[in-house]
Formats: sequence, C-alpha cells, structure tokens
Amino acid sequence: MPTQKAMKLQQERPKRLPRYTSYPTALEFSDIEPTLYQEWLCTLPDDEPISLYFHIPFCEKLCWFCGCFTKISNSEEPILRYLNVLSKEVALIAKLAGRKKVSHIHFGGGSPTILGAQSFDELMSVVRDNFDILPDAEIAIEIDPRTCSEEKIRTYAKNGVNRASLGIQDFNLEVQKAINRIQPDILIADNVRWLREAGITNINFDLIYGMPRQTLDTIEETIYKTGEFKPSRIALFGYAHVPWMKKHQKMMDKHHLPDQGERQAMFDLASRRLLELGYHAIGLDHFALSGDSLLIAREESRMKRNFQGYSADPATTMIGFGASAIGSLPSGYIQNSPDLKIYTESLENDKIPASRGLMVDATDLMYRDVISTVMSYFSVDPWAIAERHGINHDFSREKADLDRLVGVGYLSCEGTTYHLTKEGKPYLRAIATLFDQYFPQKSNIIDRCVHESEG
Ligand SMILES: C[S@@+](CC[C@H](N)C(=O)[O-])C[C@H]1O[C@@H](n2cnc3c(N)ncnc32)[C@H](O)[C@@H]1O
Ligand code: SF4
Repeated sequence: MPTQKAMKLQQERPKRLPRYTSYPTALEFSDIEPTLYQEWLCTLPDDEPISLYFHIPFCEKLCWFCGCFTKISNSEEPILRYLNVLSKEVALIAKLAGRKKVSHIHFGGGSPTILGAQSFDELMSVVRDNFDILPDAEIAIEIDPRTCSEEKIRTYAKNGVNRASLGIQDFNLEVQKAINRIQPDILIADNVRWLREAGITNINFDLIYGMPRQTLDTIEETIYKTGEFKPSRIALFGYAHVPWMKKHQKMMDKHHLPDQGERQAMFDLASRRLLELGYHAIGLDHFALSGDSLLIAREESRMKRNFQGYSADPATTMIGFGASAIGSLPSGYIQNSPDLKIYTESLENDKIPASRGLMVDATDLMYRDVISTVMSYFSVDPWAIAERHGINHDFSREKADLDRLVGVGYLSCEGTTYHLTKEGKPYLRAIATLFDQYFPQKSNIIDRCVHESEG
C-alpha cells in the first residue's frame, strides 16, 4: 500500500509525456555492466564517423528554473579535477573504440563557459590526440553569456568551434529577477559581437516560455529583442516545472506560474512573431532562418531527434563523456554515473564510469525511426519505415488509434501516411506515445491528448 508521502508525491507530479529525445526513453534505463559498454565500443564500425558529447556539470550561480544536471562551483579546484578525469575518459574510450573519425562535437552542461580559455584549449588537444576531427565537423558549445568572455570565444574559434548556443531564456528584467538570472542586454550584445568577430556565425538563442512573471507582453519584448540580434536558430522551450526532482524550482513558488492555456498563448504569440521576422518553424520548438543547417536537413529529410533536441548530425554513434552524459550506440544507450564522486573515482582507477543503459533490438530501432519521424515532420508512414528496416509489421493496435484520431480531426490520412492537422499539433507528444512500446497504453488516446501534460 502506498505511504502517505508517496501518495502526496503522486498528486504533486502531473502526468508528463516524453519529449522523445531518445527512444526508448531514459525511463527504461537500468543498471548495466561497464563490460557490456566495452563490447559495444570494440565493435563500432571503423569507417563511420562518430559524434562526441561533453558534459560540463558546473555553473557559477543557480538559475531557479534550471532542470539541467549541474552543480554550483565558485572555486576552480573541482573543475580542474573534473577536467583531469574527463581527459582520462577520452583516452580510455579511444583506446577501446580505436582512433575514430569525428563529424560532430557538442559541449553542453551545466555551463561549458565556466572552463577557462586554457582549460578548453587543453581539452580540445586531448580530443585531437585521440580522435580524427573531420575538417567539416560541426563543433558546438552552449554559452552562458554571464561566464563567457572575448578571450574564451577566440579560443573556441581557434579550436574549430563553429556553432554557439546562448542561454538567453528571457530579456525582461522582472522575469530575470524571478528566475534568479540577471543578464543585461549589453552582455548579450557583447557575446554576439565577439562570436561574429571570431567567425562563429551559427548562433542559437535558447528561450523559455511558461516561467513565473512571464506574460504575453514580456514574451513580445523577448521576441522583439531576439529579432534585433538575428540568431540563425532559436529553441523555444516550454518551462518544465519538476520541483519533486529539482527542489530549487520551489524558490519561485511565490510567483504565479502560467497555466496550460497561458503557456499555449505564449507559445502561439512567440511563434507568430518569429514567423513574421522571417524564421521557419522546425518540429516541436525550433525556428531557423533560411540557410540554417537544421532547416536544410529538414528539407532534405535528414533531420532527426536526439539528446540535443533536433539534429542534422548523420552519425549513428554518439559517445557521451562526463558525469551523467548519455551516449547512443548502434547496440544501445549508455549513461555515465551522475554521481560526481563515483564518476571521478572510477576514472581515477582507470575504470569506465558507465552505470546505466539499455540494449536495443531491431524493433526498438524501427519504432525509434517512426517516433523520430512523427516528432520531426508531424507526419508518418509507419509501414514504409518498417519496410525500410526489413520488418514485417502490421501496426494493427496503432492503426485503430490513428484512425480514431482522424475521426476527431487531429490527424488526416493520405494512403498509409498520417499527417497531424493544425488541431492535432498541440498533441504531438501524446500522439507519439502511440508508437512507444514501453508507454502504458492504458488510457484512451483521445483522453491522453486532452488530459496529459505537454509541459
Ligand atoms: C545547459 S543550459 C545552456 C547553457 C548555460 N548553462 C545557460 O544556461 O546559459 C541548456 C538550456 O536548457 C534550458 N532549460 C534549463 N532548464 C529548463 C527547464 N526547467 N525547462 C525548460 N528549459 C530549460 C535553457 O533554455 C538552457 O539554456
Ligand atoms: S540554466 Fe544553465 S546557467 Fe542556469 S543553472 Fe542551469 S545550466 Fe546553469
């Protein structure tokens, strides 16, 4: 029988739908032996380029909305120790996988900008010592404008960084106070100028809607100011309020949190304004100007869903480095220990810090393709995808629900292809759950669309 505490927690947590940045989702991961990861690494195809993800789990100051895996550090010592073991991890993994070609590198966090210029330089040297970075590789970094500098940006450019994502969130001062993240416009202007002067012209802005103190007016202000900087890409995230996992989000409890209707109105207004400014909408929450590589990938049907949201990266292997980092290999997903102490001690003892993961089979890969297609293109022909995967599958359960959704006008059907209609778009994630073999298909699909949280 559930305890009172468990019942209270249950009530506190709204039902949430997956964002499908992976399939199967991380909820399905379980403990895994590092030796299994070793086997997967040893059997990677030699000639296929791979991607690398580096997680830097440190920030100088805590933003109260933050849902990322990070730790506040105002001293250099833990960061330098972390970099030391991160370098060890690169060498250890490269020894097992062999010297692979790399087509894509992403530095995320936390705040990679917390690393000093020299530390970043050293980390990139370690990467080059162990892998062959292709001349046209995309090297992307997430930037907290408050901890970045002209010197750091010059070092990024010198090391081949060619894409930068700035954490903007909101330009309005009252919102910034409410979320404990003050960043004056001039700071953003400096960062954008330094990036462009250094030749890093692929610039993304991260914006969030649905946070405390946000109104349609503040959203209007944020989009107007964003338009003045003309970033080539924008991610417009819905604020994920998960105080049972991220206790610091309770610091914002005193403010009114926009409800689902207000959130939708904020998203609609922001999208409308971005389209007026010449941006093209991509998938669930991205916007880009003509010429952006993600937009081109979408037009050429190469775009897919991965841990960075949407991606144009064709690699089928992504190796995750750092505490909590998740990698995706042809054989399955693997996650490093999120416990900094365990992660550090493993590497100091020359052991792989992998702790959780999931082996995938051919059916998982087929359903991953179906879900990634729905999430990216709002339309899918599951039978064509199954055929491409060499699997004979009738999708009889899914078809009954898809036809029900056609009946209520959330989908339209053309041959064996289902398209989301304008009315169905707000329910994209609920509709994607239809193809999730691990999602409990207990509720009726129409109820799931209407009642389960998209937030
Ligand atoms: C790792 S941070 C980006 C780099 C840097 N730490 C910064 O904040 O500028 C990744 C992004 O996740 C988004 N994010 C963080 N917490 C979120 C939440 N609770 N809901 C929605 N988006 C969130 C923010 O837009 C943030 O820019
Ligand atoms: S939003 Fe970025 S800067 Fe703020 S705490 Fe989270 S990871 Fe750190």
